Amino acid sequence: MKLQLFKVKKVKTCKRIGNRFMPIVDSAGVAVLVHVEKRDLWLDLTRVSNEIKRKARDNPIILIPFAHISSSLASMEDAKKIIYELSVILRDSGCEIISDEFGIPKSIDISVNLGDPINFMEFRPRSIVPAYVFYEKLGKRFSKHLEENGHYDAQERMLELLREHLTEPILDTGCGQGRLISAILRLGHSRVMGNDLAKGIQHELQGFVSTQEDAHILQSYEEGSLGTIICCNLAYYLDFERALFRWNQLLVQGGKLIIIEEWPFIYPKDSDIGGEFSRMLRKIVRPVKPEKLSRLVVNSGLQLVERKMIDIDENHELQGFVFQKQI
Ligand SMILES: C[S@@+](CC[C@H](N)C(=O)[O-])C[C@H]1O[C@@H](n2cnc3c(N)ncnc32)[C@H](O)[C@@H]1O
Repeated sequence: MKLQLFKVKKVKTCKRIGNRFMPIVDSAGVAVLVHVEKRDLWLDLTRVSNEIKRKARDNPIILIPFAHISSSLASMEDAKKIIYELSVILRDSGCEIISDEFGIPKSIDISVNLGDPINFMEFRPRSIVPAYVFYEKLGKRFSKHLEENGHYDAQERMLELLREHLTEPILDTGCGQGRLISAILRLGHSRVMGNDLAKGIQHELQGFVSTQEDAHILQSYEEGSLGTIICCNLAYYLDFERALFRWNQLLVQGGKLIIIEEWPFIYPKDSDIGGEFSRMLRKIVRPVKPEKLSRLVVNSGLQLVERKMIDIDENHELQGFVFQKQI
């Protein structure tokens, strides 16, 4: 993402309707020209928002989509979504945001004070969500570890406690080897879908829809289409607030988000998964306290309707949360 930021005495954008020009933005403040690239789907937008906020001080922020010539420009659809998401994060952090219209021909007049600096900023994703690469390499071995330490058993017991909340269609956003999906099918559900960014996993999930997409984006799912979204042993690998934003869009009114995560997170021993993988995992995983996890979901607009805890073993437990999108 490339940004050009400068203080404006006035910025005016207009769109043409027939022979007339209709003003869209007409304001003073800090103008931010936003150029979005394909890889920005992986960008930590909270980081971008913090930088903009710092530079803009208390001035109103005027977000103007502005595509430069580039061979890796994001699609219109993605760029629109990303800029919208950025505006929401900025607004939620207390900034006054003026948004320009996206994807239409328009004119821009900018008036600045002579000598005021232009800030150029470029943001790249820190990494392309490495967690899935880890699981591509280690998948079955890690599953075996979860099997042996009683994790899967606890997961099934948790599902039993929360089963009344399952409403189809159900999507498991990071389904791994599909253990939870198999258990949901055994409960009698049929419209169940599995997603996981790791390659190969989809081949093992035969007999129902599966996708290989980033859980933050889930581009092939329609907004307002899912009865239940499941996040099981996945939250600690995500930019969780970003994922919540998307999941919120995908749920139907009254739909549920089920989160199942272990707490505290116990790192496997070197002897369980090998020293190299064990070191890798420490870099990837960012455990979040259950209370904070719950607060983030509630702040995203969902309501907490159920919370359960069960022991995995004497050292840690499985936390189960059910949140509902307002009707
Ligand atoms: C700890 S495993 C949990 C798998 C399964 N839910 C379970 O409980 O057995 C985490 C899974 O999330 C997947 N994953 C990690 N980051 C992802 C992302 N951004 N989008 C989709 N899947 C992701 C990994 O490939 C891995 O299969």
